Amino acid sequence: MTNIESDEFSIITEGKASILFPKDNAVFYNNVQQYNRDMSVAAIRTWSEIYLEEKEKKARKKHETGTSIAKSKANSFTILEALAASGLRSIRYAKEIPNIDYIVANDFDVDAVDSINRNVEYNELSKELVRANQGDACSFMYQHREYHNRFDVVDIDPYGTAAPFLDAAVQSVQNGGLLCITCTDLAVLTGSTYPEKCYANYGSIPVKGEFCHEMALRILLYTLSTCAARYQRQIIPLVSCSIDFYIRVFVRVVISAAEVKKNCCKASHVYVCSGCKSFYLQPLAKMTEKKFVPMVGPIVNSNCIHCENKFHVGGPIWNSSMHDKEFVQRMLTHVKNSNTDVYGTHARMLGMLTVISEEIDVPLFHSISMLSSKLNCINPSLKLFCSALLNKGYQVSASHVMAGSVKTDAPIDVVWDVMRSWVKLHPVTMKNIAENSPARKLLAVEPSFIADFKIHEDAEPPSRKVKLVRFQQNPEKNWGPKPRASGKRKLEVDDSEHRSAKKPG
Ligand SMILES: C[S@@+](CC[C@H](N)C(=O)[O-])C[C@H]1O[C@@H](n2cnc3c(N)ncnc32)[C@H](O)[C@@H]1O
Ligand SMILES: [Zn+2]
Repeated sequence: MTNIESDEFSIITEGKASILFPKDNAVFYNNVQQYNRDMSVAAIRTWSEIYLEEKEKKARKKHETGTSIAKSKANSFTILEALAASGLRSIRYAKEIPNIDYIVANDFDVDAVDSINRNVEYNELSKELVRANQGDACSFMYQHREYHNRFDVVDIDPYGTAAPFLDAAVQSVQNGGLLCITCTDLAVLTGSTYPEKCYANYGSIPVKGEFCHEMALRILLYTLSTCAARYQRQIIPLVSCSIDFYIRVFVRVVISAAEVKKNCCKASHVYVCSGCKSFYLQPLAKMTEKKFVPMVGPIVNSNCIHCENKFHVGGPIWNSSMHDKEFVQRMLTHVKNSNTDVYGTHARMLGMLTVISEEIDVPLFHSISMLSSKLNCINPSLKLFCSALLNKGYQVSASHVMAGSVKTDAPIDVVWDVMRSWVKLHPVTMKNIAENSPARKLLAVEPSFIADFKIHEDAEPPSRKVKLVRFQQNPEKNWGPKPRASGKRKLEVDDSEHRSAKKPG
């Protein structure tokens, strides 16, 4: 192997895996995604403890009632990495996560499959444990949707959007199993530049706003929930992360026709004022004692009551929890008990999971700089702004998505009154403000209460008191999604190639 290493391959070590990468870039690798892989190892590990405990309990019950269940199956689980590239992720899973029965590392690219096989050998793993497979991810998942051959974990980590893989993924995952999904098409998911593209892929319209990365997460969760619902499956988001240039969600899929009915109450349209950026969520339906009924709407006037501008309508988005607090705590405890030898990005994992553990369960957030810019005033500090809301009896937290973000259960009218109170203490120069600007309209109204900016003891969460890497920093020069691998030897499933091929004259 030594000659091969130096001539054709470079060796990259990540976690417990060492991978041979072709120097000609024939197989995809993005080192910035180490964080994605570290988080995935920790999430799958944490989920597997819960899943195997549940399985064990079921097995014991079956044993008591005389039904036998194979021991290895009760104590272990399977993983499908549907888009595996070099095999690095699968090899890390195999070496770092206990109780794995086997992993299928699938890719339609022949070079990738060669790479998986080469690296399985190089890492001295058995080909029984990590099974390379060449095939189209969807076809393979559809072949594994029967109860007996589903996977306990399905990992989807594509170039760009995961949308084409979701219908197959929700069916090929076992009841109670885990879906790990990456989307890197954030230009589509976060902007209003390509609403038609977002609607085509996700059935939802994004709206511009400081909260757009959280909205991207909620669009993906909404789409997943609708895909799963068709097969009587409910989604339970365990942890949902906005990271660098992509989003990654870890979601449990549970078969429950009764829970699926509630989906219509977990989806909302979002109204965002084009002037002052006030936003309102309009759920699609609500549950009464007897049945589900459509909501009465719209919840906003045709013009914004704060600044008289029109609204943009986005969504639907997932308006229910993005994280399972118990799960996040368990994952955080596991990460706290590990170190940089286990997870190269340990500090960042700790920081992000701590902020997530502190997030209050309220969709979207405000940004202090945006609120201040709408009033032409200086920014109140995070501590002062949060104190004013806390002193008024509302909850606040940061969002892991953005530094300077404030999640709160306070209605937007209260938020503006806090800002008006702030302006009373720090007046703005009215002559600099344009006649029809939102600032003039907002400041023409007296606040209904004067906010108390006295520092509240909860205004600084534990994660800010200790030094943690709380928000993303650009990890390296030229970071971002990497171009596709140059390997071309794939199965003929890419429709775009057929579309662009010239028809015979
Ligand atoms: C972003 S890379 C995967 C990276 C990998 N998960 C990791 O962590 O290193 C995407 C891979 O998906 C493969 N791929 C794209 N479309 C596919 C499809 N329809 N079926 C199977 N593989 C596909 C590509 O060949 C490429 O290797
Ligand atoms: Zn407005």
